[in-house]
Amino acid sequence: MTVSGPARSPDRPLLHLDDLHTSFAQGAIVAVEGIDLRVGAGESVGLVGESGCGKSAAAKSILRLHDPRNTRIGPGRILFEGRDLLQLSDEGMRKIRGREIAMIFQDPMTALDPVMTVGDQIAECLDAHERLSATARKARILELMKLVGIPSPATRMRCYPHQFSGGMRQRIMIAIALSCRPKLILADEITTALDVTLQAQVLELIRSLRDSMQLATIMITHDLGVVAGMTDRVYVMYAGQIVETAATDDLFARPAMPYTWGLLRSAPDLEAPVVERMVPIEGMPPSLADPPSGCRFAPRCPYGREICERAAPPLAPNPVSGPEHAARCWGTQQVKGGGWLIGHDWRAPNSDTPTSGKAGTNA
Ligand SMILES: Nc1ncnc2c1ncn2[C@@H]1O[C@H](COP(=O)(O)OP(=O)(O)O)[C@@H](O)[C@H]1O
Ligand SMILES: [Mg+2]
Repeated sequence: MTVSGPARSPDRPLLHLDDLHTSFAQGAIVAVEGIDLRVGAGESVGLVGESGCGKSAAAKSILRLHDPRNTRIGPGRILFEGRDLLQLSDEGMRKIRGREIAMIFQDPMTALDPVMTVGDQIAECLDAHERLSATARKARILELMKLVGIPSPATRMRCYPHQFSGGMRQRIMIAIALSCRPKLILADEITTALDVTLQAQVLELIRSLRDSMQLATIMITHDLGVVAGMTDRVYVMYAGQIVETAATDDLFARPAMPYTWGLLRSAPDLEAPVVERMVPIEGMPPSLADPPSGCRFAPRCPYGREICERAAPPLAPNPVSGPEHAARCWGTQQVKGGGWLIGHDWRAPNSDTPTSGKAGTNA
């Protein structure tokens, strides 16, 4: 699999979130509001947005990991290989979890069981889904530990999580996720708790495993830097909705929506001088219990127009980049009588001067 070249949203995806909604507290908090997301077999997709915008709520919905007492998943469909997972019984979902789709979480210390050896934890999914002899089971644990780069696996398999460093614990989480050879991995902020060197190592590990095992991945992160070079396509999420989607190269070259510009500017650029490194997006994401009725980003958008406050823009193709690049922004769409609003230099934090008056590029 390559991460460059033309990337199209697959026609027959492995996973298709079709108009998915997830709400909490008897529908009072709509954390995921009608998202459409596709992942092809072996494809790597990024789901990016600030904290609290609904990324984890969406991912956990796929595997039905929420507390059912206060969560409603639906309306919408979660199609996996054409089957709607929302129609499966709890027993049916148990067969999917781990075996077909696995999830890796941000914090390996809380996700791992402190009183169980890592070998037993790696084998837990195997035990649930396969009947293996003790010898075959041990061989598989050793193979998985070797695969994720844990040294001396024969000794280390008998150790407990606290005896490993943060980076090694994240590798154990990856081994657990891979244990039943799933087709899709949901990786939720898996490098956030690691320092920069370890982040690079874990991302490289994911990349090589993905390529050698033909794994599809959803890389969930608040950091656009993590999806660069790691994903074929990116979905940008804001306040429960997808606000921009494009092939990764195209998103970085021609970001359409001011929210994406903000994420790009706030991503650490290690090459830049210290003072220019990061420009945070001003303000906070809206409460998902009471989001703005127009564009949800309008209250924070330096380019907001009257229409942005008044009407919610649809997720529509960006006329500059083509049909695979869509944004939920009046600024990238033809406003009746108003022309195009695109063309700002997104690298300049407070630029209010379009680089071209009519349809142009953002680059
Ligand atoms: N179990 C829950 N009950 C109530 N609200 C929740 C629950 N889980 C998440 N939320 C709310 O849903 C929104 C989205 O959360 P989340 O999906 O965790 O965001 P992200 O992963 O993008 O940081 C947040 O406002 C959060 O407070
Ligand atoms: Mg999250």
